[in-house]
Amino acid sequence: MDLLDQINKENVPYHVAIIMDGNGRWAKLKGKPRVFGHKNGVKSVRETIKAAGNAGVKALTLYAFSTENWNRPKAEVKTLMALFLTSLKSEVKELIKNNIKFQIIGDQESLTKSVLKGLNKVIEQTKNNDALTLTIALSYGSREEIVNSFKNISKKIVNKELSIEEIDENIINNHLYTFTLPDVDLMIRTSGEKRISNFLLWQIAYAELHFTNVLWPDFTKNDFYNAILEYQNRERRFGKTGEQIKTTNEI
Ligand code: IPE
Ligand code: IPE
Ligand code: MG
Repeated sequence: MDLLDQINKENVPYHVAIIMDGNGRWAKLKGKPRVFGHKNGVKSVRETIKAAGNAGVKALTLYAFSTENWNRPKAEVKTLMALFLTSLKSEVKELIKNNIKFQIIGDQESLTKSVLKGLNKVIEQTKNNDALTLTIALSYGSREEIVNSFKNISKKIVNKELSIEEIDENIINNHLYTFTLPDVDLMIRTSGEKRISNFLLWQIAYAELHFTNVLWPDFTKNDFYNAILEYQNRERRFGKTGEQIKTTNEI
């Protein structure tokens, strides 16, 4: 059964972020090397992008590689980088066809020239699309992002483009890699781990969190719709009382 029909189109999370975890364990269960899990995770990415579009999600941010993942065995890192490039190349037509804007967040300086070149090409090809913004977090760490934003804000202060008094939440937001995106409404993590692993720490201040035991290569569109259905059953209070929220909704 397709759960899409059960989704209330009036209350779809605008921005969904996913920690795609469990590729290694999935492969191990099948007696295969970890990279087999990564390869099989690609189809879950494809299916999730489609599901997000069908549900009416406007921004989808996927955690593909963290700053800490550079500490993995060299061969695994190399295979992952190659996999990003080949998958992107094979998906670009589909992105264009579905009016999807592709962008990346993370520490671009640590990526190789060939990976960056491949990414930039797709960013350029899809920059005017507006049905869905697909953001891939690559060599991304939230703390690194915050350090980077401090540096850029400090430079502006030194150059007198900005005064200390002007610093507020908006200014900080505008110096994060995610400056074009609104806060995360729903964050999903697969594989049963219940941690954030340095992903979008600032941006999830009021996100609803959804944890599922499904390993990423097994994640399907119904798992995605299920997370949205659970989100729709939550009451987002933003510090107010439940009564206040109900009255505002009635107006
Ligand atoms: C997520 O799966 C993919 C990346 C972090 C690149 P893992 O590779 O972390 O899989 P597990 O957690 O070892 O099962
Ligand atoms: C987080 O997964 C990063 C990505 C999904 C890309 P990890 O598997 O690296 O996270 P930890 O180390 O278990 O927290
Ligand atoms: Mg993991």
